[in-house]
Amino acid sequence: MVSEFVFLGLTNSWEIQLLLFLFSSIFYMASMLGNSLIVLTVMMNPHLHSPMYFLLANLSITDLGVSSVISPKMIYDIFRKRKVISFGGCIAQIFFIHIIGGVEMVLLIAMAFDRYVAICKPLHYFTIMSRKMCLQLLVAAWIIGFIHSVVQLGFVVKLPICGPNVIDSFYCDFPRFIKLACTDTFRLESMVTANSGFISLGSFFTLIISYIFILITKHSSGSSSKALSTLSAHITAVALFFGPLIFIYTWPFPSTHLDKFLAIFYAVLTPFLNPVIYTFRNQEMKVAMMRVCRQLVSHRKISLLMPVL
Ligand SMILES: *[C@@H]1O[C@H](CO)[C@@H](O)[C@H](O)[C@H]1NC(C)=O
Repeated sequence: MVSEFVFLGLTNSWEIQLLLFLFSSIFYMASMLGNSLIVLTVMMNPHLHSPMYFLLANLSITDLGVSSVISPKMIYDIFRKRKVISFGGCIAQIFFIHIIGGVEMVLLIAMAFDRYVAICKPLHYFTIMSRKMCLQLLVAAWIIGFIHSVVQLGFVVKLPICGPNVIDSFYCDFPRFIKLACTDTFRLESMVTANSGFISLGSFFTLIISYIFILITKHSSGSSSKALSTLSAHITAVALFFGPLIFIYTWPFPSTHLDKFLAIFYAVLTPFLNPVIYTFRNQEMKVAMMRVCRQLVSHRKISLLMPVL
């Protein structure tokens, strides 16, 4: 029985490792800061207490999770000769990646639904997207994420892993984990492809089709450019989130290294890009974030000066 796994990492080239270290550290910190700032901004501004911003803040919370499950361990490992992870650590990583991934998927769909109601049924917006509805969407997201993760793990934890314990990657996930089992894993692999792959593919097309539908409806009723720029931000975020995922889970040959680079993109860059995309063209959000920053800074100045005074 194997008690730990060894990661091969991404590359042996020293220069690329250094580059990777800088790149991941910078984007990890930036995404932690950016997403925390969004959560703070929404919580501290009563006029941002609307369904769209609640969902956005919740998306930021899951983004904090996405980046924290994979990046810190990866950054810590980059310059280590022997990159090991315990069996439990590996299972925990898979568990959290899939819970959070599932939550994020449902939240993106909820955000599309929110935009659909706001744009196509504006008069009923506050009756449909009530406080209760938002909470239900949120609870549904976490339950679906949990089930999605546990169902797949249930099949995989009991796999007999006897042989090599080397994972040619920098984090644990199903496709490469299953390859280590010393039994016929064809059916399991199909199950994971079906579960993670087709769910991401399905959600992706559902989202794209609903956004196209919103755009068409909106267009025929004379669109405001503000609504359109919100929509384009959402569509960009959706494409960036699902692009790598669909490749990682449905590409049948994990021997190519492309999936590892896409995983870095998914783990490091996407959580950073979400706050940028959603706030970049949103004046209301930018102004509120600025104000929160100023409050934090002046608060800090005061607390630094206190001992002197
Ligand atoms: C997440 O969404 C729920 C439901 O709308 C909301 O009550 C909560 O405040 C949101 N979380 C944050 C950090 O805004």
